Amino acid sequence: MSRQRAKLVVGNWKMHGRMQENAVLLTEVASGASALRNGVDVGVCVPYPYLAQAQALLEGSVVRWGVQDVSAHAQGAFTGEVAAEMTLDFGATYAIVGHSERRAYHHETPELVGAKARRALEAGLTPIVCVGETLDEREREATEQVIGAQLDAVLLMLNEEQAARIVVAYEPVWAIGTGKSATADQAQRVHAFLRKKLAEKCAAAAEVPLLYGGSVKPENAQELFGQQDIDGGLIGGASLKSKDFLAICQAARTVLQ
Ligand code: PGA
Repeated sequence: MSRQRAKLVVGNWKMHGRMQENAVLLTEVASGASALRNGVDVGVCVPYPYLAQAQALLEGSVVRWGVQDVSAHAQGAFTGEVAAEMTLDFGATYAIVGHSERRAYHHETPELVGAKARRALEAGLTPIVCVGETLDEREREATEQVIGAQLDAVLLMLNEEQAARIVVAYEPVWAIGTGKSATADQAQRVHAFLRKKLAEKCAAAAEVPLLYGGSVKPENAQELFGQQDIDGGLIGGASLKSKDFLAICQAARTVLQ
């Protein structure tokens, strides 16, 4: 019964960071993460201009790096966009797609998020596909309908082999940056639902990492990560402080023991 999937903890820096403070943060994260024993994968998704810095400071460490968005197009006249292949030139592993801030502020549609996930996979990146409901949707008991549709729009664009290579992050919009995390029970229920939906598409659904995101902190990480279908976290605010981020990584390690 008990599956020991590896845990995965990924920092989402959002639009934070400057060269000097990044150097300290990346160095501390690299050295702290090396002290974690096997079973926990660690990543950071940085703003594009700092991808080269992340590569320079993380290469050879156990920490992988990536970006927070990626173009749905391979190349061409798309001013301001960044292609997946460009990020590969800097050793990127991950691309977050469909973060709720991009859906809300940049009007990204479910179809566009699916196209971005497919493009990332075709290029060899691992997309971290974000899904999540608003407070209003939760109160209307529409959570499964909303996140089910968000996931379906992505799965529709992928073949089974590609679907097995994604990471899904459940991030309730009402929990992001609010300090108010979902309870472990609320999150587990949604993760079980996501796992079931994935299983309709792909035989390897049990292997797909499902992350929880939204006000994860050292104090609540262990309980969240201890749930059967929660394989780690996507960490915003707390990923900007090495001590907190590493404590969250350590919590992932603790639940594996
Ligand atoms: P938070 O953000 O940890 O600051 O709530 C999570 C996210 O938006 O990925």
